[in-house]
Amino acid sequence: MKAILLDRYGGPEVLQYTDLPDPEPGPGEVLIAVHAASVAPGDWKVRAGHLQQIFPQTFPTIPGRDGAGTVLALGPGVSGIGAGDEVCFITAHTENGSYAELVVRPAAEVVRRPANVSFTEAAAAVHAGVCAWISLLETIAVTAGQRVLVHGGSGGVGGMAVQIARHLGAEVAATCRAANADYVRSLGAGTVIPYDERDFATELNDYDVVLDLVGGDIHRRSYAVLKPGGNLVWLIAQPIQDLGAEHGVNVLRADIHDATYVLQAVVDLVASGAVRPQVGRTLPLAQAAEAHRLLETSEHSRGRIVLEVR
Ligand SMILES: NC(=O)c1ccc[n+]([C@@H]2O[C@H](COP(=O)([O-])OP(=O)(O)OC[C@H]3O[C@@H](n4cnc5c(N)ncnc54)[C@H](OP(=O)(O)O)[C@@H]3O)[C@@H](O)[C@H]2O)c1
Repeated sequence: MKAILLDRYGGPEVLQYTDLPDPEPGPGEVLIAVHAASVAPGDWKVRAGHLQQIFPQTFPTIPGRDGAGTVLALGPGVSGIGAGDEVCFITAHTENGSYAELVVRPAAEVVRRPANVSFTEAAAAVHAGVCAWISLLETIAVTAGQRVLVHGGSGGVGGMAVQIARHLGAEVAATCRAANADYVRSLGAGTVIPYDERDFATELNDYDVVLDLVGGDIHRRSYAVLKPGGNLVWLIAQPIQDLGAEHGVNVLRADIHDATYVLQAVVDLVASGAVRPQVGRTLPLAQAAEAHRLLETSEHSRGRIVLEVR
């Protein structure tokens, strides 16, 4: 099969488009023909060696955290799923991933692809949706009427979070660059603060929730936006300092995990039309290095880059 191989930490050029032996499904596993795989910031951070403490790599390895494809073959003991079924799947940063024509996954961990979106859209929804869902529905439980600020509402996770929060009945504000303001409004944000023109911290107050996908100075200035007892939920980005006690708010890290019930919940939201996957750009598998370069230099904006594999 064709795949992207990573045999050391380094710049985008260490991603090699190459031929590898086809994987074979073991007991309880399925072999999937990958149609599309998303490219997330975590992928380039892993490749560059920035996340070695959290996700140590065993080289050589295939990057890629999620995808959508068609089941080709079943390993021994698999039932309830068959060749030809169209599925979505997650892979961990520490195992062979989805930048490949073929991937093997435990049958119990794949879910049916929503019929109302393409493989490319399904791939764009998976990891971004899982991160947004865990942030808003497991780390806390956003309820109707709450005021929720999403930093980075134009990004992969932020775009899904804006839609999920809106679907839950929250009043949603978001930050993004000015050029993306209309786009983020179209996802359901009633208030958009362009970070390159205005200061969210002086305009917004009395919020129940801030979802911080940026960290650093954005995190520090977010305390001013929250009401007493509010929740500042963060994902790993720029380092943060927890000032929750000083400000009387809860500071909660969203612990991103790969449990299948979360993937199923995200797919159900897509299937119901409550959220629409956001594909910012597509590239062929062979151009994975270019996808990493676009993300790393922040040239990419709006939703996910998706590698179209077949
Ligand atoms: N396990 C974890 O903890 C975990 C999981 C997933 C993601 N993450 C991290 O969470 C972050 C977001 O992930 P993602 O996939 O959504 O990334 P992404 O698709 O690259 O989006 C990043 C977003 O950040 C926005 N942004 C940049 N500077 C900003 C600022 N000063 N104020 C407000 N927004 C700003 C960008 O907005 P514009 O494009 O409009 O400029 C863009 O929408 C990344 O750092 C990622 O590594 C962590």
